[in-house]
Amino acid sequence: MSKGFFITLEGIEGCGKTTQARLLADYVKKMGRSVVLTREPGGTIIGKRIREILLDSESKGMDSRAELLLYFADRAQHVAEVIEPALADGAVVICDRFTDATTAYQGFGRGLELELITELNEAATRGLMPDLTLLLDLPVTEGLKRARKRNGDNDQGHEGRFEEEPDEFHEKVRQGYLTIACCDADRFKVIDASGTVEDVQAKIRDKVRFPGI
Ligand code: TMP
Repeated sequence: MSKGFFITLEGIEGCGKTTQARLLADYVKKMGRSVVLTREPGGTIIGKRIREILLDSESKGMDSRAELLLYFADRAQHVAEVIEPALADGAVVICDRFTDATTAYQGFGRGLELELITELNEAATRGLMPDLTLLLDLPVTEGLKRARKRNGDNDQGHEGRFEEEPDEFHEKVRQGYLTIACCDADRFKVIDASGTVEDVQAKIRDKVRFPGI
């Protein structure tokens, strides 16, 4: 049986990760590998309920530590129920956001202690880290324009708690992601996400090299 392989996609709001993750999953499937496409928050039934609490605009007053712990509750369930079993079965797991999102948003964005995030992450994931992380990088103004349009078009306005944050928050998140990527250059591939969907997917496929592909 092939060994499992764990790929995560990261980036600011509106960077196109969800579309790109879907296209990448189609590509990997065509190459004959079994694929599990999933996301955080919300990759399990329990996680979907946590996602509603986290992203609802009505959750405006949420304390940043309560927010942090809800992301980790979602992740612990997701790793145990979906990611670890799929990797053990030899699948390629493609996950739309994972650990680095917590470091970028709650660490760099909200200003919570990075050491605390690392420790809680270790507990939630039992040390599981992605084999490859694709960071789709985009200027904040461009990303937010896309994200706010998408939420209006798809009636996802109720998931808008993070889009309602000021541009400075998203700038901290973007710089946070670039910092994390710089510190872990073996795992990360930074991809310019400002082109067309096809251009960005071509760049991604160029970077994805793992056993069986
Ligand atoms: P999504 O819009 O990419 O599905 O992600 C949901 C939101 O949750 C997005 O605004 C980023 C945020 N988020 C965090 O703040 N911390 C995390 O650990 C994760 C996974 C997501």
